[in-house]
Amino acid sequence: MLDQADALRTLFQENAVRSAAVPRSSRAYTVAVTSGKGGVGKTSIAVNLAVLLSRLGRRVRLVDADFGLSNAEVLLGVRPKHNLEDVARGRIDACDAWADAPGGIKLLSSGSAIPSTADSDSVTGAELVSQVLDRVPDEEVVIVDTGPGISASVVALLALADEVMVVTTPEPTSIADTYAAIKVLTSFCPKTEVTLVANCCASPGQASNIARGLEQICLRFLKRSFERHEYLPYDRDVSRAIQLQKPLAVSSPRSATVTWLRRTAIKLEDRISKRQQDGQMRQLAEVRA
Ligand SMILES: Nc1ncnc2c1ncn2[C@@H]1O[C@H](COP(=O)(O)OP(=O)(O)O)[C@@H](O)[C@H]1O
Ligand SMILES: [Mg+2]
Repeated sequence: MLDQADALRTLFQENAVRSAAVPRSSRAYTVAVTSGKGGVGKTSIAVNLAVLLSRLGRRVRLVDADFGLSNAEVLLGVRPKHNLEDVARGRIDACDAWADAPGGIKLLSSGSAIPSTADSDSVTGAELVSQVLDRVPDEEVVIVDTGPGISASVVALLALADEVMVVTTPEPTSIADTYAAIKVLTSFCPKTEVTLVANCCASPGQASNIARGLEQICLRFLKRSFERHEYLPYDRDVSRAIQLQKPLAVSSPRSATVTWLRRTAIKLEDRISKRQQDGQMRQLAEVRA
C-alpha cells in the first residue's frame, strides 16, 4: 500500500516537474540555495555567500526566488524600487530591475507575489528567473535563493542552476527532508552538482557525520550522492545580523560563520573559474575545428 502511494506520488511529481521544466541559455554560473525543510538558514547563507564571493572580486547577483516572501531584501536592509513581479507584469525590463545592495552585490527581489506563482502554477516563476538569467553577462555569478521543499515549482528553479546548495541542520526532520530533496534533485537534475551545507552544527565533526550518513543512504538507494559538503556553525550572530538587517559578512566579518562561509566562497570561486576556463578552451577548440 505504501509502495503504491509512493509510486503514485513519484508519477505525479514526474509529470508536474516535466511540465514545469524551463529551457536555459544563460552561461552565467548559477548557484541555487535550497532545502528540504524551511527555516534552516537558506536566505542567510545566500545573502552572505553573495557578499563574500563579491569580496573575492566576482560580480555577483542575488535573485530572491522565494516568491511572495522577499526575505533577502529584509536581511540586506534595502528597499528595492523594482522586483520580479514588476518584470513579470512588464513594468520594467529584466536588466533594469536590479537594486544595489550592501557588499557590492545586486539584488532582484521577489516582490509580494508573482502572478499565479504564489499559488500552484509552477511554470511562471522558473520561466521568469530563466528570462532574467539570460540577460546576465556570462562572467557574472547568480545566486538564487529558493523556497523550501520538493514541489515542481522549486525543482524547476533548481533545474536552471549549475550547482545546488542543499542546506540542512542537524535535526532529524531536516536530515530526512534533505534526503528527499537530494532524491528529487538526482532524478530530475542529474547533471547538476550538489553541495550539502550542514548549517547550525556544533563542530566540523558533526557536519562530517551528517554528510557521511546521508551519503551512505544516497549511494545505497539513489546510486548517486552529493559532490561535497560544507560546515557552518550554530552562531547567535546570525540572528543578531538579521535583526540589524545587515549581512553578517558586512557587520561581523570576523564571526565564526563568516570565517567558514568565506572558505565555501573560495572553493566556489575556484569551481567557477575552472568552469569558465573549460568553456573558453571549448570555444577555442570549436573555432579552430
Ligand atoms: N548558523 C546559524 N546559527 C544560528 N541560527 C541560524 C543560523 N543560520 C540560520 N539561523 C536562524 O534560522 C532562522 C532562519 O534563517 P533563514 O536564513 O531565514 O532560513 P530560510 O531561508 O531557510 O527560511 C533565522 O532565525 C536565523 O537567525
Ligand atoms: Mg528564506
